[in-house]
Amino acid sequence: MKIIIDDRAVECEEGALLIEVMLKNSIEIPHFCYQEDLGADGNCRMCMVDIKGMKRPQIACNTFVSENLEVSTISENITEVKRSILELELLNHPVDCAICDQAGECKLQDYYMDFGLYDSHLTTAKTKKGKHIDLGSNVMLDQERCVLCTRCTRFTSNITKTGELGIIGRGDSARVGIAPGRELNNPYAMNVVELCPVGALTSKDFRFKQRVWFLDSTKSICHGCSRGCNIHVDYNETKYSDEKIHRFRARRNNKINQSFLCDYGRLSYTELNESFNGEVSHVKDLADLLKEDKKLALVSPSMSLQQLQAIKSFCKNNAIELFSLAYIDDSFGDEWLRTNDMSANFAGVKELEINYDEGKFNSSLQDAHVVINFDHKYLKNMDLNNKRVVHFATSHVDSDYELIFAIADFAHDSGTIINCDGIRQDFYATKYESSNPRLVDILEELR
Ligand code: SF4
Ligand code: SF4
Ligand code: FES
Repeated sequence: MKIIIDDRAVECEEGALLIEVMLKNSIEIPHFCYQEDLGADGNCRMCMVDIKGMKRPQIACNTFVSENLEVSTISENITEVKRSILELELLNHPVDCAICDQAGECKLQDYYMDFGLYDSHLTTAKTKKGKHIDLGSNVMLDQERCVLCTRCTRFTSNITKTGELGIIGRGDSARVGIAPGRELNNPYAMNVVELCPVGALTSKDFRFKQRVWFLDSTKSICHGCSRGCNIHVDYNETKYSDEKIHRFRARRNNKINQSFLCDYGRLSYTELNESFNGEVSHVKDLADLLKEDKKLALVSPSMSLQQLQAIKSFCKNNAIELFSLAYIDDSFGDEWLRTNDMSANFAGVKELEINYDEGKFNSSLQDAHVVINFDHKYLKNMDLNNKRVVHFATSHVDSDYELIFAIADFAHDSGTIINCDGIRQDFYATKYESSNPRLVDILEELR
């Protein structure tokens, strides 16, 4: 059916929520408390619209569409309403955008620039609330910047069901707080930072490190476990460039992670900034070593399908027995996103029919003269006495392996992986290049 929004005909399904229809059709609708995964709470009143035939403005997050509904988001009346709501939100706000990490991606700042009254009517002192409160799990709270949208409290009560956060007090002393004696310490806690539409909740890991408008971003997939949550990799390759990754952010995928990540995956970006500072070997030396017999290779189950395929062909051409072993940790998985299989592409290992029989691997390892490790984490714990070892690594390794090759990690090399539910997903390389070559290029040189 059709409805009219700002004189434009919009197609939608009968009974759909008006705010969702607007967001889907890229129609600007200011909102704080509504969030796609948390739903509406109706507390912020920022999504007010005029509806033909109704005396008073209505909130779009609690209006269900019906045939021929006529909506205005831009009437003088509605603009005035938004201005008044913003005035109320900003009455006691510190307006410290210049030192706030959210500046540049803050909804309050954006709406203020669009509809703000600019000059405060307040003649008395502002109400003071708590600043830089350490909630635990890497999250800092500034109560004065909060717009009381309850996204964070609804996340801890409805999604993680851990209930650490709540709204305390009334009127202008109402503020977000933590339950006495509690810490925000669930494995998904840092999602509240991303959910917060303003700078009230910030990440200890990211705060004061980068201005967000200097960051570039690439679409990728978290490699922390087999769920394959969708992420944005944010890095600075422009002003004051340090060619470093500064954060992972959740990227919406309704079939996998909605708009959430676990904290382990979110913080796993730090491994990708570890530079390889040792000497690397020459490809020619590897070619010589391949003349030996009884060769075995172990490949990381987090490598992309493209890398696994190239390794498989390389092993076949050089009579190398190839294995992979999953990274299993029974204490990691839960009933939501995290899985006990902490490899990103074990389904890909299976699809390419790479041998993952641990017993067979152990007996072949005993007989092998040459062991080639394609970045598998377990190799360092294995008995490699009297074996000639070649190591392909994405980060620095302290070892006396005979040959070591540094290779680009997943953030600097594009590819495809298959998640625990059989979903095939592509990820892309950052715009700045790694100082390490791509694995497939090294193998190509050896052909
Ligand atoms: S801290 Fe942020 S997410 Fe929580 S209620 Fe305040 S503004 Fe909303
Ligand atoms: S659940 Fe797994 S894939 Fe998702 S963010 Fe955590 S570690 Fe990464
Ligand atoms: S988004 Fe509609 S009332 Fe908050």
